[in-house]
Amino acid sequence: MSAIQLIARAAAVVMVGLSLVGCGKSEGGAGGGSGGGGKGAAGASNTNDQGTGDIVIGHYASLTGAEATFGISTDNGIKMAVAERNQAGGVRGRPIRLITYDNQGKPQESQTVVTRLIESDRVVAVLGEVASSRSLAGAPICQRKGVPMVSPSSTNPDVTSVGDMISRVCFIDPFQGLVGAKFARENLGFTRGATLYNRAQAYSAGLNSNFVEAFRTLGGQVLTEQAYSDGDNDFSAQLTAIRERSPEFIYLPGYYTEVVNIARQARRLGIDIPLIGGDGWDSEELKNAGDSLNNSYFSNHYSHEDTRPEVQDFVRRYREVYQKIPDGLAALGYDAARLLFDAMERAESLHGRDLASSINSTTNFAGVTGMISIDANRNPTKDAVILEVVNGQPKYKATVRP
Ligand code: PHE
Repeated sequence: MSAIQLIARAAAVVMVGLSLVGCGKSEGGAGGGSGGGGKGAAGASNTNDQGTGDIVIGHYASLTGAEATFGISTDNGIKMAVAERNQAGGVRGRPIRLITYDNQGKPQESQTVVTRLIESDRVVAVLGEVASSRSLAGAPICQRKGVPMVSPSSTNPDVTSVGDMISRVCFIDPFQGLVGAKFARENLGFTRGATLYNRAQAYSAGLNSNFVEAFRTLGGQVLTEQAYSDGDNDFSAQLTAIRERSPEFIYLPGYYTEVVNIARQARRLGIDIPLIGGDGWDSEELKNAGDSLNNSYFSNHYSHEDTRPEVQDFVRRYREVYQKIPDGLAALGYDAARLLFDAMERAESLHGRDLASSINSTTNFAGVTGMISIDANRNPTKDAVILEVVNGQPKYKATVRP
């Protein structure tokens, strides 16, 4: 991967503004190649669409459980995109109908509800999941049945390797790990770190490795890599082991529920160094950390403080509907749904292979989270932002370019 630039706050606003000049709607042509790569290129292609009436799409999400805000925010963003599109006449002159199922944050339940969406509800496309382990559970079913799946926010590289039916609208973790490592090494000037990750989550384990590799390449030392598992709530053994090595910071590539617990327990053990994490921190529930996460940072897909008009319009409309500030999940859900509608409009038909081919040939789609072009591996390349946590609230700090 080429070197990334960290841009200071003032410069970032200018550069982000400039990058928008001349960027219109997607120009991807319908009926293009499948995007190449992946398995099953000649696999099944569903014919769920009947050609008239509602166009049915599915969403599978953690509406309950330890990552409930991920699913709820994403669903809010998708619902807003559906409502706006239907207000404007729908897609191909037909209304969109969204069916959302709760997977309780479980991979196995993800398989059950994805199968139901495809076989009983006869959706033409699936949106989801947020968490990479759950996307990795749902994706093989979509691939086998020939139904396109667009993940709004799963960043583990393996998700889209499942096959040509699977794409995403977010950056991937080799980049995100490098962003965190660069920030720790170059902006904060640290050379000695430790990590604490969830070995049961593909996202957390993968991002941990990506970070460690990048930090070492930049000349940093990782003194210890500690792990926990789903449902753990006592982290004192791992934190004590970390404290013994006296690192300058701890990298925490986990999800918000554990991050809040870890931060509180670390402070209680007298560990007052910065904590640094990834997009998995993105939740309004971070406020439960009180001041335990002050002087801590995480990489993310978007900042609600971004002054681009696309962002500010989205934030205003979202606040009108939901009475809260949209997090990155809401923005990515909104972008995934809108990119899907754009691809549907251009597709030769809404049958699986035609629709996947249209999604996979999307270029320069102007999303709230940035410009989205789907590459040959069905991943976009996008900027990341660094947010600082101030009394549980995320504050924009910097933009990082690929
Ligand atoms: N990227 C995380 C994963 O792959 C999910 C996530 C995305 C969480 C954005 C929060 C915000 O599991």
